[in-house]
Amino acid sequence: MNPVVVLVGPMGVGKSTVGQLLAERLGVGYRDTDDDIVAGQGRAISEIFVDDGEPAFRALEKEAVRRALAGHDGVLALGGGAVLDEDTRALLAGQPVVYLSMDVEEAVKRTGLNAARPLLAVNPRKQWRELMEARRHLYEQIATAVVATDGRTPEEVTQAVLDAL
Ligand code: S3P
Repeated sequence: MNPVVVLVGPMGVGKSTVGQLLAERLGVGYRDTDDDIVAGQGRAISEIFVDDGEPAFRALEKEAVRRALAGHDGVLALGGGAVLDEDTRALLAGQPVVYLSMDVEEAVKRTGLNAARPLLAVNPRKQWRELMEARRHLYEQIATAVVATDGRTPEEVTQAVLDAL
């Protein structure tokens, strides 16, 4: 059992919205590894970051990705930082992975200051720039297709992903 498509990309790019629209269009289920982690831990992602730290979160995330890849045949969305882990990237090899991209200004506009997203606590523009610089090549490395979301509605992005599959 493998997902029909795995969505990766930065937080706020619309992985959940587009993922759910895609699942509807394809007539398959939708799953999100962030939701799996929250359900499994009974805690919010922000609490896991604060209480246990980012490495502990990444370990939980790796396990959540491994389980979801093996046990889900619909649309799967990953957390924005899942690609940071080398083992997680290896798990994604051979999967249909679509990278939803956006530029820094679009990211600042869409997310702003968001307490629920612990990596954007202060100075979002600077943090976004650094985050994108650190991660863009990792998304590109594992993606089988890239869909730019800047200035596009979720419906338009969904159609572009369907066209790319
Ligand atoms: C993170 C993205 C979040 C969540 C966590 C860390 C990241 O997921 O996994 O807050 O490192 O970019 P979304 O991309 O679904 O917001």
